[in-house]
Amino acid sequence: MIVVSHRGPYSFSRGDDGNLTAHRGAGGLVSALGPLLSAEVDATWIAAAISDDDRSAVRAGTTGDLDVNLRLLDLDRAQHRMHYDVIANGVLWFLHHGIFDRTRRPRFDLRFRDAWDAFVAVNQCFTDAVLETAAPGEVVLVQDYQLTLVAGQLRAQRPDLRVVHFTHTPFAGPDDFSLLPTDVGADLCGALASGPAGFHTKRWAEAYRQSARATLGRRAAVASPFVASLGPDVAALEAVAASADARAAAGHLDDAVGDRLVIARTDRIDPSKNIVRGFLAFDRLLEARPGLRGRVVLVAMVYPSRQGLAEYLAYENEVEQVVARVNDRWATRDWLPILLDDRDDFARSVAGMQRYDVLLVNALRDGLNLVAKEGPVVNRRDGVLCLSPETGAYDELKSAAIAVHPYDLEQCAGALDDAVSMPLDERALRATKLRALATMRSPADWLSDLINHAGK
Ligand code: G6P
Repeated sequence: MIVVSHRGPYSFSRGDDGNLTAHRGAGGLVSALGPLLSAEVDATWIAAAISDDDRSAVRAGTTGDLDVNLRLLDLDRAQHRMHYDVIANGVLWFLHHGIFDRTRRPRFDLRFRDAWDAFVAVNQCFTDAVLETAAPGEVVLVQDYQLTLVAGQLRAQRPDLRVVHFTHTPFAGPDDFSLLPTDVGADLCGALASGPAGFHTKRWAEAYRQSARATLGRRAAVASPFVASLGPDVAALEAVAASADARAAAGHLDDAVGDRLVIARTDRIDPSKNIVRGFLAFDRLLEARPGLRGRVVLVAMVYPSRQGLAEYLAYENEVEQVVARVNDRWATRDWLPILLDDRDDFARSVAGMQRYDVLLVNALRDGLNLVAKEGPVVNRRDGVLCLSPETGAYDELKSAAIAVHPYDLEQCAGALDDAVSMPLDERALRATKLRALATMRSPADWLSDLINHAGK
C-alpha cells in the first residue's frame, strides 16, 4: 500500500550538534495513520520535503531510518511555492471553506495561470513517485486538496492501480465552485470523478457530487463519492497525556489558571478557524456576566501556520490585537482573561484538553475537526463541547454538544454562558455521551474503509 500526502508524518530539524533529527508531526492524519502504517511492513508514505532541513535530510539519505518507509520529494522550490501558497492554500483552501472576501478575491490572472501550471506539475511529481514504486495492482491512498489531480493522473497512466482519493477539507458546492476558471474546475472534478473519492461527511460528499455534475455536465461519468469519518487514536492520545511533556505542561497550566473555569481552544491560526470571533464572543460574555470576571480564563493554544500567505500573517496580527484589547479591557492584577500560547506543541494541547471545562470549536467551516473528538477523549472534567454546525464532526457529535453559530457573537456568548453554567449532572451525562460518540470510529476503521473502496 502507498499513502500519498503533501505533509508527511515526520519533519526534520538540525540540532545544536549539526545532526538532522526527525520529529513526528502532530496533525490529525499523521497521528491517525502513523501507527497503522508503521505496523504494515509493505507500506510506503510519499510526501513533500517542506523545510530546508527536510530537503537536507532527503539529500543526506536520513529519511530511511524511521518506523515508516518514508519517501520525501525534493520538489523544485519555486514550483512548490506556487503549488502550496498560491493554488492549494491561496485558492483551493479559501474556495472549499467559503472564506474568499469576494469583492477582492479570487482574481485569476497570468500569475494564477503560472501557479496552476506549477500545481499540475507538482501533482505529476507525486504521481511519478508513485509510478516508480507501485507494484501491479497496488492500493494507493491519495490525501487531500493539495493533491487533487494525482488520482486522475495515476488512473490515466496505470489503470491497474487501485487508487482512492480522500479529501480532509469541506468541498465547495456549485455556487462557490463555479468561481474557478471553467477548465481548472473541470480538471479538478474530472480527476476526482474518475474513481472513488471519499469525504468526512455526507454534506461534503454531496457538495462534491453536485459541483462535479455542474462542472462536467450531466452525462459525464462521476463515480459515487463515499463517506468515511476519521476517529481519534485513543491509545496514542492516552500515551501523550501520560508523557512527561504533557505532565509538565499540565503543571504550568495549573499554575497559570488555578481553580478558575477554563474555556480552551486549540487551532492552527487560520482564518477558517474563526479565532477572532471566538475572542469577541468571550469579550461579550465577560460584559454580559460580571459574575464570571476573574473566574474564567480562555486558554487559546493557537499557533502560526502557512506564513507565506499575506492573509494568514494579517489574521495572526488580528488575533494578537484582539487578545490585547480584551485583556486590556478586563484584566486585573491577578487575572488575565485570555492566555495566548502560540507554540505548536501537541503535548501542551493535550494538557489543555485534559483541563478544560468548555472546549470552543467555532470554525467557519471545517472538513472534520479532529480536536472536537480528541478533546472529549482526554478531558478529565466532564467538559462541555461548544461546536460549530459547520464542522464535519458536528454531524456525529451534535446530540451531546452545544451548537455555536460561527458568525453570531451574541449566540456564541450565550452558548459559552450555558456551557460554563451547566449543572454538574448534565455535564457528566453529556461528557459520557460525547466520549462514546467521539470514539465510534477509530483510525483503523477509516483506513479499512479507504482500502475497501479501492476495490479488489
Ligand atoms: C488541514 C489539511 C491538511 C494539512 C493541515 C495542516 O488539516 O486538511 O492537509 O496538512 O491542515 O496544514 P499545512 O498547510 O500546515 O500542512
